[in-house]
Amino acid sequence: MNQLTETKIITLPKFEDTRGNLSFIEEERHIPFKIERTYWIYDVPGGQMRGGHAFKEQREFIIALSGSFDVVVDDGTHKQLFSLNRSYYGLYIPCGLWRQMENFSTNSLAFVLSSTKFVESDYIRDYEKFLKYREEYEKQRI
Ligand code: TYD
Repeated sequence: MNQLTETKIITLPKFEDTRGNLSFIEEERHIPFKIERTYWIYDVPGGQMRGGHAFKEQREFIIALSGSFDVVVDDGTHKQLFSLNRSYYGLYIPCGLWRQMENFSTNSLAFVLSSTKFVESDYIRDYEKFLKYREEYEKQRI
């Protein structure tokens, strides 16, 4: 059991109405962290990927507010693909995992809630370094 098994789709409240639907998120209630920052990714040209890094501390919750895309989450040994295509659920990703976003549909909008402010030193952008980081992490757990 490691952070990959804690990675999960969380279904959000959804109020269906003839006027349209409404969903919402409360920090530490629907998602397991306090929200320090939000950002969004949009106008992604066909075939492009985003992400392709890991965070040492940052935890995230990613929603496809519009359109669809896939998130591949990787613990250095196993990879799991999550398809996001509804605005009433999202993917919770703990820290310490490599994650890549791909297969963006036209006009998709990825909305990300983050547990930390933007800190470049929290990123691991090199996959080889990530594998070393995972090795150290697994050693410390023994
Ligand atoms: P990056 O996290 O590398 O994008 P992605 O994971 O989607 O591929 O961020 C791209 C650029 O934007 C990078 O130069 C850092 C900057 N950035 C901020 O300044 N603040 C932020 O909150 C985020 C997410 C990125």
